[in-house]
Amino acid sequence: MSVGILTSGGDAPGMNAGVRAVFRSIKMREPSREIVFFRGGFRGLARKLDSSTDRNVQRQETRGIIHRGGTFLGTGRVPELKVPAADAPDRVAQLAAHEAFLRVAAVNLYQMDVSDLVVVGGDGSFRGARLIARHFRETFPDRPFRVIGIPGTIDNDIWGSDYSIGFDTALNNVVDAIRKIRDTVESHKRVIILEVMGNTSGWLALQSAIAGGASVLAIPEVAASHDHENIVRRLIRGAERDYRYFIIVYAEGVAKQHGNGWAQGLRRRIEADPSLRRLHGGVPMEVRLNSIGHLARGGSPSALDNTLAGLLGTAASDVILHGQLPGGPALAGDVMVGCEGPRAVALALDEVVERSPRLVTEDSPLFRIAQNLMLSAEQPF
Ligand code: F6P
Repeated sequence: MSVGILTSGGDAPGMNAGVRAVFRSIKMREPSREIVFFRGGFRGLARKLDSSTDRNVQRQETRGIIHRGGTFLGTGRVPELKVPAADAPDRVAQLAAHEAFLRVAAVNLYQMDVSDLVVVGGDGSFRGARLIARHFRETFPDRPFRVIGIPGTIDNDIWGSDYSIGFDTALNNVVDAIRKIRDTVESHKRVIILEVMGNTSGWLALQSAIAGGASVLAIPEVAASHDHENIVRRLIRGAERDYRYFIIVYAEGVAKQHGNGWAQGLRRRIEADPSLRRLHGGVPMEVRLNSIGHLARGGSPSALDNTLAGLLGTAASDVILHGQLPGGPALAGDVMVGCEGPRAVALALDEVVERSPRLVTEDSPLFRIAQNLMLSAEQPF
């Protein structure tokens, strides 16, 4: 039986090293095992196979990719893979497209003798993979088939894994951007309101605010953090302590909750604030809006991301070849391999999907650290 590998969802630096690690650690131990690459994410599963797959992959295909960002296999989001919402106006058509997609994917996997499908991606990708696996098992009950998920997303919001591939590189990209922005903000004595990706979670914004030394952080999970009045109070307290410029980092999830007007509204509120004007020499503080956007996802993967990819890719191959991690219990069904500190762990994919996304909470240690390090409305020193 062969092993299929694909990358899915938003690309994440380190995915290449993850694919390479799965390939090499399987071939090292079982050189005759066939490995199949699907290109373009789940789309590659449901296309004419010759155009979207590399069968019987050889070692040279995984050479010269470890230092490259993005994913050499390509990726994508597949709307047909989502179960249509109950109130979708074109639900019947969507459902038909959904079922057709599952059918073609399952038949293709069957025809290619794939018994293990490795999916490197986020929780949306795992949800999709689980649907395909269920469909496969219903259609071909006598064939073994399972999914092995490897967390790969800059959002770091996968339940059950301390880190996901891509997060560390994105964090470094964002911190680098904050440092560059600081130069210009400081020179002009301005306020910058900077949007950072993260989907519905605030992890990337939170850790980049800590590491980049932001003045204020707003994340979707903590309502008080995106209250305009609360933020302005923090800035006033800072200005009273002789701060002359401010960096406000907010997670895109805040804009998802409040709409794009949130940052514009904050800008107007800051520019109009009389206390800030007085403390700023009688003129309004100038505010600029900026977004790091997809720049966070680009560039060479960090050493940590490639190391994590090596750990998780090897763990995935352990599950495929031995049905367990070394010294761990036997694993049945679809699994995700993740990390607890430097150690690989394996979890039931169902549980991961049901509990994801993993979100920040007010008592998350990192959130509390951020509160100590940023400006507060009661700043006592
Ligand atoms: O999940 C990764 C991520 O970068 C999110 O942080 C962001 O919300 C989303 O993908 C952006 O997706 P796209 O690249 O499809 O615009």
